[in-house]
Amino acid sequence: MARTPLMAGNWKMNMDHLEAIHLVQGLHQELTDANFDYSKTEVAVIPPFTDIRSVQTVVEGDDMKIKYGAQDVSTKESGAYTGEISATMLSKLGCSFVVVGHSERREYHGESDALVGEKARVALAAGMTPIICCGEGLEVRKAGEQVSHVLAQIDGALDGMSADDVKKSVIAYEPIWAIGTGEVATPEDAQEVCGAIRVRVSELYDAETAEAVRVLYGGSVKSGNVRDIMAQADVDGALVGGASLKADEFAKIARFDA
Ligand code: PGA
Repeated sequence: MARTPLMAGNWKMNMDHLEAIHLVQGLHQELTDANFDYSKTEVAVIPPFTDIRSVQTVVEGDDMKIKYGAQDVSTKESGAYTGEISATMLSKLGCSFVVVGHSERREYHGESDALVGEKARVALAAGMTPIICCGEGLEVRKAGEQVSHVLAQIDGALDGMSADDVKKSVIAYEPIWAIGTGEVATPEDAQEVCGAIRVRVSELYDAETAEAVRVLYGGSVKSGNVRDIMAQADVDGALVGGASLKADEFAKIARFDA
């Protein structure tokens, strides 16, 4: 496979900065002990904003190959936007990734596809990789409309993005009914939507862009189910929530093919 798999751990609002240091050190140790090959799989942690400086310090201090990113970004560059964090601030802290449009942000902060797309473009302009999230709720799934629902989100988020920007981006398909519920989509469910996303990218852009963009699955990924999910043709990695909070478990997920 030409696309390098990406395993990203979304910590959500968990771990203070001291716990963050322990978790990153633990993950690094687990992967080092397992002779992990970072050139074959990218590993990233996505901590809360308040942990990023501490994560940067341990990663750079110990020359770790673990990458890191943020869970959100402001569309504004600077100014009177109380509580917001700019893309420049994140890139100066060495962030490689920014998650945009996670379902929890869409739900609790009313983020629209257009806003998610704007955040993705802001992250790209600052030299970071957006992880653009999409996914359907239970009602949509029960109605069998998951593919059209997700493709509409993708159309909205990618609107105005160049092919080059899309090639550099990551798209994460996370069915909301499978997030934090223990209810994992079957590998075939994941493939159905991830494959449809890639076809849509080829329609909106071209085959080369569709081949390049990485599509992740997220939703109750664990060491016990990651292998079958990763075996799907259009799944290039995982966005992992709960299971990324334990170093040994997340290291096992990163070593899905071991
Ligand atoms: P989960 O979360 O792995 O705990 O289901 C995934 C996510 O929301 O990114």
